[in-house]
Amino acid sequence: MTESNLTVRDISDTARWVAYFRALETQRPDALFRDPYAERLAGKHGFQIANTLTDGNKHEWAWVARTYLFDQFVAREINDGADLVINLAAGLDARPYRMDLPSTLQWVEVDLPEIVSYKEDVLKDERPRCRLERISLDLSDVPARQTLFANLDKQATNIVVMTEGLLIYFTAEEVGSFARDLAANAHFHSWIIDLASPGQLKLMQRTTGKQLSEAGAAFKFGPPEGVNFFAQYGWEPMDVQGMLKTAAQFNRAPVELLSLLPEPKGPMRNFPWTGVCQLKKQ
Ligand SMILES: C[S@@+](CC[C@H](N)C(=O)[O-])C[C@H]1O[C@@H](n2cnc3c(N)ncnc32)[C@H](O)[C@@H]1O
Repeated sequence: MTESNLTVRDISDTARWVAYFRALETQRPDALFRDPYAERLAGKHGFQIANTLTDGNKHEWAWVARTYLFDQFVAREINDGADLVINLAAGLDARPYRMDLPSTLQWVEVDLPEIVSYKEDVLKDERPRCRLERISLDLSDVPARQTLFANLDKQATNIVVMTEGLLIYFTAEEVGSFARDLAANAHFHSWIIDLASPGQLKLMQRTTGKQLSEAGAAFKFGPPEGVNFFAQYGWEPMDVQGMLKTAAQFNRAPVELLSLLPEPKGPMRNFPWTGVCQLKKQ
């Protein structure tokens, strides 16, 4: 690998970057979650990305809060009877290996071919705790994803979908079409997403976003309506948790950001906000 390709080459390399933060958290004695696979999955390249991207190794509290909240929301859905978890753009996420899951649970991961085959290779000797299937697919391919969703819809009756770190790379129009395609399936009951306010999106576009944009992974989505954006496509907010508020609960929020709490009520607009949201089908 040469110096020039040690940073982000394409959108899938962002998965290596996120795995870096899970690896770091895992080393802490007070870790909020432990992912023993993250360091291997991030690899040398993941660490290089974090350390070369502008602000690439900063805001650890936000990445950790995001993982923690997704863990909590997914675990609650499974406890409440979800029989299939579909992780769209799963990247190097290792939840099927590291979470306490019923062995009968079905779990499907979807991502682009390169990252799926890399992950298969790194985890080839590990055993997931549930019934795991991995699918290579470009989720921007509308007919292909509609066919996949329809097929998965037949496999279970209480399906939870998660997209962690995906929607920000889509335009509002693309997110709308994606949301509509998910809502069209009778058994897709719940959808867990992460979301940025327009103010936060602008901040990210001015910093890390510049280099990511050159690699074809521009930050695009931060709707002025906030989580209510999804209502027009059939999805209603059930639980919305801010990442800064969550980090503060665990004494992980940087002191200089504490003045941003409590979060304002209503649409966040220019207020810098990121959160994890659980949507339910209307
Ligand atoms: C920031 S990473 C997040 C990965 C993982 N969800 C996590 O939180 O660790 C974004 C992921 O989206 C995937 N991705 C982006 N565009 C995609 C597309 N059109 N189809 C499938 N996966 C896509 C990338 O390959 C990458 O794995």
